[in-house]
Amino acid sequence: MVDMTVQIGSLKLNNPVIAASGTFGFEREIEQYMDLSKLGGISSKGLTIKPRSGNDAPRVAECPQGMLNSVGLQNPGIEYFIENELPHMLTYGCAVIANIAGHEFEEYGEMAKLLEDTAVDAIELNLSCPNVSGGCMAFGSDAYMIRSVVSSVKKVSSKPLWVKLTPNVTSISEMAIAAEEAGADAVSLINTLLGLVIDIDSRRPIMKNNTGGLSGPAVRPVAVRMVNEVYNAVSIPVIGMGGIMTGRDAAEMMIAGASAVQVGTANLVKPTACIDIIRELESWTANTGAAGVSEITGTIVKW
Ligand code: SIN
Repeated sequence: MVDMTVQIGSLKLNNPVIAASGTFGFEREIEQYMDLSKLGGISSKGLTIKPRSGNDAPRVAECPQGMLNSVGLQNPGIEYFIENELPHMLTYGCAVIANIAGHEFEEYGEMAKLLEDTAVDAIELNLSCPNVSGGCMAFGSDAYMIRSVVSSVKKVSSKPLWVKLTPNVTSISEMAIAAEEAGADAVSLINTLLGLVIDIDSRRPIMKNNTGGLSGPAVRPVAVRMVNEVYNAVSIPVIGMGGIMTGRDAAEMMIAGASAVQVGTANLVKPTACIDIIRELESWTANTGAAGVSEITGTIVKW
Protein backbone atom coordinates (compact mmCIF):
# COMPACT_ATOMS: atom_id res chain seq x y z
CA MET A 1 0.00 0.00 0.00
CA VAL A 2 1.52 3.27 -1.13
CA ASP A 3 0.19 6.71 -0.24
CA MET A 4 -0.26 8.26 -3.69
CA THR A 5 -1.39 11.68 -2.50
CA VAL A 6 0.81 14.70 -3.08
CA GLN A 7 0.66 18.24 -1.78
CA ILE A 8 1.15 21.18 -4.15
CA GLY A 9 1.21 24.10 -1.72
CA SER A 10 -2.24 24.19 -0.13
CA LEU A 11 -3.73 21.82 -2.70
CA LYS A 12 -3.80 18.08 -2.05
CA LEU A 13 -4.05 15.81 -5.09
CA ASN A 14 -5.30 12.18 -5.07
CA ASN A 15 -2.10 11.26 -6.87
CA PRO A 16 0.62 13.13 -8.81
CA VAL A 17 -0.75 12.56 -12.33
CA ILE A 18 -2.53 15.50 -13.99
CA ALA A 19 -3.89 15.49 -17.54
CA ALA A 20 -2.08 18.34 -19.31
CA SER A 21 -3.87 21.31 -20.82
CA GLY A 22 -5.12 20.84 -24.35
CA THR A 23 -4.87 17.06 -24.49
CA PHE A 24 -8.17 16.25 -22.79
CA GLY A 25 -10.46 18.96 -24.22
CA PHE A 26 -12.98 19.68 -21.47
CA GLU A 27 -13.08 15.94 -20.74
CA ARG A 28 -16.54 15.13 -22.12
CA GLU A 29 -14.95 13.13 -24.94
CA ILE A 30 -12.76 11.20 -22.46
CA GLU A 31 -15.23 10.40 -19.68
CA GLN A 32 -16.64 7.41 -21.55
CA TYR A 33 -13.21 5.73 -21.50
CA MET A 34 -12.21 6.09 -17.86
CA ASP A 35 -13.17 7.03 -14.34
CA LEU A 36 -11.79 10.56 -14.15
CA SER A 37 -11.93 10.56 -10.34
CA LYS A 38 -8.85 8.33 -10.49
CA LEU A 39 -6.73 11.21 -11.82
CA GLY A 40 -4.75 13.62 -9.68
CA GLY A 41 -6.15 16.50 -11.68
CA ILE A 42 -7.09 17.91 -15.05
CA SER A 43 -5.81 21.14 -16.54
CA SER A 44 -8.31 22.73 -18.93
CA LYS A 45 -7.57 23.69 -22.51
CA GLY A 46 -5.98 27.15 -22.55
CA LEU A 47 -8.75 29.70 -21.99
CA THR A 48 -8.85 33.19 -23.40
CA ILE A 49 -11.08 36.21 -22.75
CA LYS A 50 -12.83 35.83 -26.12
CA PRO A 51 -13.60 32.59 -27.96
CA ARG A 52 -10.92 31.60 -30.48
CA SER A 53 -11.15 29.30 -33.47
CA GLY A 54 -7.37 28.76 -33.43
CA ASN A 55 -4.90 28.65 -36.29
CA ASP A 56 -5.68 27.41 -39.79
CA ALA A 57 -5.09 23.72 -40.57
CA PRO A 58 -2.83 21.84 -40.98
CA ARG A 59 -1.97 22.41 -37.35
CA VAL A 60 -0.57 19.11 -36.17
CA ALA A 61 2.29 17.07 -37.59
CA GLU A 62 3.83 13.83 -36.41
CA CYS A 63 7.60 13.48 -36.26
CA PRO A 64 9.96 10.82 -34.90
CA GLN A 65 9.21 10.25 -31.22
CA GLY A 66 6.77 13.13 -31.02
CA MET A 67 4.50 15.63 -32.68
CA LEU A 68 4.20 19.33 -33.34
CA ASN A 69 1.03 21.30 -32.73
CA SER A 70 0.06 24.76 -33.71
CA VAL A 71 -3.52 24.78 -32.46
CA GLY A 72 -3.47 28.47 -31.60
CA LEU A 73 -5.53 28.27 -28.41
CA GLN A 74 -8.85 27.19 -29.90
CA ASN A 75 -11.37 27.48 -27.06
CA PRO A 76 -14.91 28.75 -26.41
CA GLY A 77 -13.81 31.64 -24.18
CA ILE A 78 -13.61 31.79 -20.39
CA GLU A 79 -17.20 32.85 -19.76
CA TYR A 80 -18.59 29.94 -21.77
CA PHE A 81 -16.18 27.64 -19.91
CA ILE A 82 -17.34 28.86 -16.50
CA GLU A 83 -21.01 28.50 -17.37
CA ASN A 84 -21.06 25.35 -19.46
CA GLU A 85 -17.95 23.21 -18.96
CA LEU A 86 -16.64 23.85 -15.45
CA PRO A 87 -19.75 22.66 -13.53
CA HIS A 88 -19.48 19.29 -15.27
CA MET A 89 -15.72 19.06 -14.78
CA LEU A 90 -16.15 19.70 -11.06
CA THR A 91 -18.28 16.56 -10.75
CA TYR A 92 -15.34 14.30 -11.65
CA GLY A 93 -13.81 14.34 -8.17
CA CYS A 94 -10.24 15.19 -9.12
CA ALA A 95 -8.61 18.61 -8.97
CA VAL A 96 -9.64 21.01 -11.75
CA ILE A 97 -7.08 23.53 -12.91
CA ALA A 98 -8.02 26.42 -15.21
CA ASN A 99 -5.25 27.16 -17.72
CA ILE A 100 -5.53 30.80 -18.81
CA ALA A 101 -3.76 32.47 -21.72
CA GLY A 102 -3.75 36.25 -22.20
CA HIS A 103 -2.95 38.20 -25.33
CA GLU A 104 -2.69 41.47 -23.40
CA PHE A 105 -1.14 41.73 -19.95
CA GLU A 106 -4.45 42.82 -18.29
CA GLU A 107 -6.35 39.81 -19.59
CA TYR A 108 -4.70 37.48 -17.08
CA GLY A 109 -6.07 39.51 -14.17
CA GLU A 110 -9.50 39.81 -15.79
CA MET A 111 -9.75 36.05 -16.23
CA ALA A 112 -8.46 35.36 -12.72
CA LYS A 113 -11.20 37.66 -11.38
CA LEU A 114 -13.85 35.72 -13.30
CA LEU A 115 -12.52 32.47 -11.80
CA GLU A 116 -12.42 33.82 -8.24
CA ASP A 117 -16.03 32.90 -7.47
CA THR A 118 -15.79 29.47 -9.04
CA ALA A 119 -14.64 26.22 -7.43
CA VAL A 120 -11.56 25.70 -9.64
CA ASP A 121 -8.79 24.30 -7.47
CA ALA A 122 -5.94 26.25 -9.08
CA ILE A 123 -5.13 28.59 -11.93
CA GLU A 124 -2.32 27.75 -14.32
CA LEU A 125 -1.03 30.91 -16.01
CA ASN A 126 -0.08 29.99 -19.55
CA LEU A 127 3.01 32.09 -20.15
CA SER A 128 4.34 29.65 -22.70
CA CYS A 129 2.10 28.88 -25.71
CA PRO A 130 4.43 29.27 -28.72
CA ASN A 131 1.65 29.38 -31.34
CA VAL A 132 0.12 32.84 -30.91
CA SER A 133 1.42 36.24 -31.90
CA GLY A 134 1.23 38.02 -28.53
CA GLY A 135 1.08 37.32 -24.80
CA CYS A 136 1.87 33.79 -23.58
CA MET A 137 5.42 32.89 -24.66
CA ALA A 138 6.28 36.52 -25.40
CA PHE A 139 5.56 37.27 -21.72
CA GLY A 140 7.03 34.02 -20.45
CA SER A 141 10.43 34.59 -22.02
CA ASP A 142 10.91 37.87 -20.17
CA ALA A 143 11.51 37.69 -16.40
CA TYR A 144 10.21 41.25 -15.92
CA MET A 145 6.91 40.39 -17.65
CA ILE A 146 6.57 37.17 -15.63
CA ARG A 147 6.92 39.19 -12.42
CA SER A 148 4.37 41.76 -13.64
CA VAL A 149 1.75 39.21 -14.76
CA VAL A 150 2.08 37.01 -11.67
CA SER A 151 1.92 39.88 -9.19
CA SER A 152 -1.07 41.45 -10.98
CA VAL A 153 -2.97 38.14 -10.82
CA LYS A 154 -1.98 37.61 -7.17
CA LYS A 155 -3.65 40.94 -6.34
CA VAL A 156 -7.05 39.77 -7.58
CA SER A 157 -6.98 36.04 -6.94
CA SER A 158 -6.91 33.85 -3.84
CA LYS A 159 -6.57 30.65 -5.88
CA PRO A 160 -3.34 28.66 -5.91
CA LEU A 161 -1.37 30.05 -8.82
CA TRP A 162 0.77 27.84 -11.04
CA VAL A 163 2.93 29.36 -13.77
CA LYS A 164 3.48 27.25 -16.88
CA LEU A 165 6.93 28.00 -18.27
CA THR A 166 8.37 27.84 -21.75
CA PRO A 167 11.58 25.92 -22.51
CA ASN A 168 12.30 28.38 -25.35
CA VAL A 169 14.53 30.57 -23.19
CA THR A 170 18.21 30.66 -22.26
CA SER A 171 17.62 30.17 -18.54
CA ILE A 172 14.37 28.59 -17.38
CA SER A 173 15.56 28.88 -13.76
CA GLU A 174 15.65 32.66 -14.11
CA MET A 175 12.00 32.57 -15.26
CA ALA A 176 11.02 30.22 -12.41
CA ILE A 177 12.70 32.46 -9.84
CA ALA A 178 10.82 35.48 -11.25
CA ALA A 179 7.54 33.57 -10.89
CA GLU A 180 8.36 32.51 -7.32
CA GLU A 181 9.43 36.00 -6.25
CA ALA A 182 6.17 37.45 -7.63
CA GLY A 183 4.11 35.02 -5.54
CA ALA A 184 3.52 31.92 -7.68
CA ASP A 185 2.54 28.85 -5.64
CA ALA A 186 4.07 26.40 -8.14
CA VAL A 187 5.67 26.30 -11.56
CA SER A 188 4.79 23.79 -14.27
CA LEU A 189 7.24 22.93 -17.03
CA ILE A 190 7.94 22.39 -19.82
CA ASN A 191 5.50 23.61 -22.45
CA THR A 192 6.46 22.67 -26.01
CA LEU A 193 9.74 23.36 -27.82
CA LEU A 194 9.41 25.53 -30.89
CA GLY A 195 9.99 23.45 -34.03
CA LEU A 196 9.58 23.42 -37.82
CA VAL A 197 8.80 20.49 -40.13
CA ILE A 198 9.02 20.82 -43.93
CA ASP A 199 7.48 18.75 -46.72
CA ILE A 200 10.56 18.39 -48.90
CA ASP A 201 8.56 17.84 -52.12
CA SER A 202 6.64 21.11 -51.94
CA ARG A 203 9.35 22.69 -49.74
CA ARG A 204 6.54 24.16 -47.66
CA PRO A 205 6.27 23.95 -43.89
CA ILE A 206 3.79 21.18 -43.11
CA MET A 207 1.84 23.47 -40.81
CA LYS A 208 0.01 26.57 -42.01
CA ASN A 209 1.44 28.58 -39.13
CA ASN A 210 4.93 27.44 -40.21
CA THR A 211 6.23 26.60 -36.75
CA GLY A 212 4.68 24.57 -33.95
CA GLY A 213 5.40 23.22 -30.48
CA LEU A 214 7.21 19.88 -30.22
CA SER A 215 6.03 17.43 -27.55
CA GLY A 216 6.28 13.70 -26.88
CA PRO A 217 9.11 11.37 -25.85
CA ALA A 218 11.63 13.32 -27.99
CA VAL A 219 11.54 16.22 -25.51
CA ARG A 220 11.68 14.20 -22.29
CA PRO A 221 15.44 14.49 -21.56
CA VAL A 222 15.21 18.27 -22.07
CA ALA A 223 12.21 18.42 -19.72
CA VAL A 224 13.89 16.27 -17.06
CA ARG A 225 17.01 18.47 -17.19
CA MET A 226 14.94 21.66 -16.87
CA VAL A 227 12.81 20.27 -14.03
CA ASN A 228 15.98 19.36 -12.14
CA GLU A 229 17.49 22.79 -12.77
CA VAL A 230 14.35 24.58 -11.60
CA TYR A 231 13.94 22.27 -8.58
CA ASN A 232 17.42 23.35 -7.46
CA ALA A 233 16.63 27.04 -8.03
CA VAL A 234 13.26 27.55 -6.30
CA SER A 235 11.48 26.47 -3.10
CA ILE A 236 7.95 26.23 -4.52
CA PRO A 237 6.72 22.89 -5.93
CA VAL A 238 7.65 21.99 -9.50
CA ILE A 239 5.14 20.19 -11.72
CA GLY A 240 7.03 18.32 -14.42
CA MET A 241 5.88 17.51 -17.91
CA GLY A 242 7.31 16.67 -21.31
CA GLY A 243 7.07 13.30 -23.01
CA ILE A 244 5.86 11.19 -20.07
CA MET A 245 4.47 7.98 -21.57
CA THR A 246 4.86 5.45 -18.71
CA GLY A 247 4.94 5.21 -14.94
CA ARG A 248 8.72 4.90 -15.09
CA ASP A 249 8.90 8.18 -17.05
CA ALA A 250 6.79 9.81 -14.31
CA ALA A 251 9.15 8.41 -11.67
CA GLU A 252 12.14 9.86 -13.56
CA MET A 253 10.50 13.31 -13.61
CA MET A 254 9.79 13.09 -9.88
CA ILE A 255 13.33 11.94 -9.07
CA ALA A 256 14.51 15.04 -10.98
CA GLY A 257 12.45 17.17 -8.61
CA ALA A 258 8.80 17.20 -9.69
CA SER A 259 6.16 17.02 -6.93
CA ALA A 260 3.54 16.11 -9.55
CA VAL A 261 3.55 15.48 -13.28
CA GLN A 262 1.39 16.37 -16.25
CA VAL A 263 0.75 13.95 -19.09
CA GLY A 264 -0.07 15.35 -22.52
CA THR A 265 0.90 13.71 -25.79
CA ALA A 266 0.46 10.20 -24.32
CA ASN A 267 -3.30 10.92 -24.04
CA LEU A 268 -3.47 11.44 -27.80
CA VAL A 269 -1.86 8.04 -28.39
CA LYS A 270 -3.97 6.25 -25.77
CA PRO A 271 -6.82 8.09 -24.02
CA THR A 272 -6.40 5.95 -20.88
CA ALA A 273 -2.63 6.57 -20.63
CA CYS A 274 -2.94 8.52 -17.36
CA ILE A 275 -4.60 5.58 -15.61
CA ASP A 276 -1.85 3.20 -16.76
CA ILE A 277 0.79 5.70 -15.64
CA ILE A 278 -0.76 6.02 -12.16
CA ARG A 279 -0.90 2.23 -11.79
CA GLU A 280 2.71 1.77 -12.97
CA LEU A 281 3.99 4.60 -10.79
CA GLU A 282 2.24 3.12 -7.76
CA SER A 283 3.74 -0.32 -8.27
CA TRP A 284 7.21 1.09 -9.01
CA THR A 285 7.02 3.16 -5.79
CA ALA A 286 5.87 0.12 -3.79
CA ASN A 287 8.88 -1.84 -5.06
CA THR A 288 11.25 0.85 -3.77
CA GLY A 289 9.88 0.35 -0.25
CA ALA A 290 8.72 3.98 0.00
CA ALA A 291 5.56 4.56 2.02
CA GLY A 292 4.42 7.42 -0.19
CA VAL A 293 5.02 8.59 -3.74
CA SER A 294 5.96 12.07 -2.51
CA GLU A 295 9.14 10.56 -1.03
CA ILE A 296 10.52 10.16 -4.56
CA THR A 297 10.65 13.88 -5.32
CA GLY A 298 14.16 15.23 -5.75
CA THR A 299 15.95 12.00 -4.88
CA ILE A 300 18.37 12.18 -7.81
CA VAL A 301 21.74 10.73 -6.78
CA LYS A 302 24.76 12.76 -7.83
CA TRP A 303 27.86 11.14 -9.31
C1 SIN B 1 -2.03 25.81 -28.64
O1 SIN B 1 -3.25 25.91 -28.47
O2 SIN B 1 -1.47 26.33 -29.63
C2 SIN B 1 -1.17 25.07 -27.67
C3 SIN B 1 -1.28 25.63 -26.30
C4 SIN B 1 0.01 25.77 -25.58
O3 SIN B 1 1.07 25.41 -26.10
O4 SIN B 1 0.00 26.29 -24.46
